[in-house]
Amino acid sequence: MADLFTPLDVGPYTLSNRLVMAPMTRSRADGDGVQPDIAATYYAQRAGAGLIVSEGVFPSPMGKGYIKTPGIVTDEQVEAWRAVADAVHAEGGRIFMQIMHVGRISHPSMLPEGATPVAPSAVRPNAQAYTESGPQDLPTPRALALDEIPGIVEDYRQATRRALEAGFDGVELHAASGYLPEQFLSSGTNQRTDGYGGSAENRARFVLELLDAMADEAGAERVGIKIAPEKGFNDVVDADPVETYTHLVDQLRGRGLAYLHVAGPFEGETDYHALLRERFDGPYLLGGGLDRAAAQAHVESGRADAAVFGTDFIANPDLPERIRRDEPLADPDRSTFYGGGAQGYIDYPTLAGFGAA
Ligand SMILES: Cc1cc2nc3c(=O)[nH]c(=O)nc-3n(C[C@H](O)[C@H](O)[C@H](O)COP(=O)(O)O)c2cc1C
Repeated sequence: MADLFTPLDVGPYTLSNRLVMAPMTRSRADGDGVQPDIAATYYAQRAGAGLIVSEGVFPSPMGKGYIKTPGIVTDEQVEAWRAVADAVHAEGGRIFMQIMHVGRISHPSMLPEGATPVAPSAVRPNAQAYTESGPQDLPTPRALALDEIPGIVEDYRQATRRALEAGFDGVELHAASGYLPEQFLSSGTNQRTDGYGGSAENRARFVLELLDAMADEAGAERVGIKIAPEKGFNDVVDADPVETYTHLVDQLRGRGLAYLHVAGPFEGETDYHALLRERFDGPYLLGGGLDRAAAQAHVESGRADAAVFGTDFIANPDLPERIRRDEPLADPDRSTFYGGGAQGYIDYPTLAGFGAA
């Protein structure tokens, strides 16, 4: 029987434990989407995770939706990410980069030449952006033309290439949180009448094309995907999420992907972990609202192969060690989640630091 400290094979890697650090936007990049030096420190401090998934990273300037978020487009961005990957590897860790295109969850003030955000369809989100001048309502996006879609797929391919060039161990497709891939998946945001809209099969097409492009570059075994059915985050709704996600995961099977990461908890009645885990043939990562007992129970019962922790990794850089020794966990300071500098980012103490002056 596996526990949280039983090694786990993910693609070509053997993770030293089954505690995965969730992708978390921390908004400390500069205006050019370049990570600061302290990002390498932040990630290296958390290298005791079996696997780190980076914060969401935009694959093209049109994919940016939050100020001070990083990209993987320019040489400067790649170089800064290389420092992160090197620092994590020096500590014996593994790190995947999460590729995140926000689609309609953006604002012209953050896009090149004040462009209108793009989406599968021109459906305005009931959400706000945090811009340089404060919260602003999001505009109605522009529906992508059919002949623009290959260009977006190409952006993900390039981003994957550049992530590997920066020394990352793999990439994760962010297909949750109401961003572009989930906008295609969900009937409420996808009203297309071409091959990318309508049936579950058509709505899943974009996600599968992205994964194919990413796998072309990295090998499928270095590509993971994150989904979060029935969260409603960023005003995304789907008329039949059970059908959508069972279809999607059926299509993921047999591709040799690194992992499927499913984040709960779910708003409806459906237990997607029970539904999706048995349909997928690779490592199943379960996250969202876990504490140590739940994580342990999920892995010991075989309900998941690994447990994903978000906020606890912010406040506990040595989270796996604390869990192993059954030590208390520190609480995160939510006011420093997004933006700012070192405070609330690289100054959380490790166990060894307890009692230090
Ligand atoms: C500060 C913060 C930033 C986040 N940014 C991202 C992100 O960039 N990409 C993503 O997929 N999820 C993001 N999430 C969601 C987490 O990956 C995770 O699914 C969520 O926090 C639930 O896990 P937890 O209850 O252990 O924190 C973020 C969460 C937090 C708290």
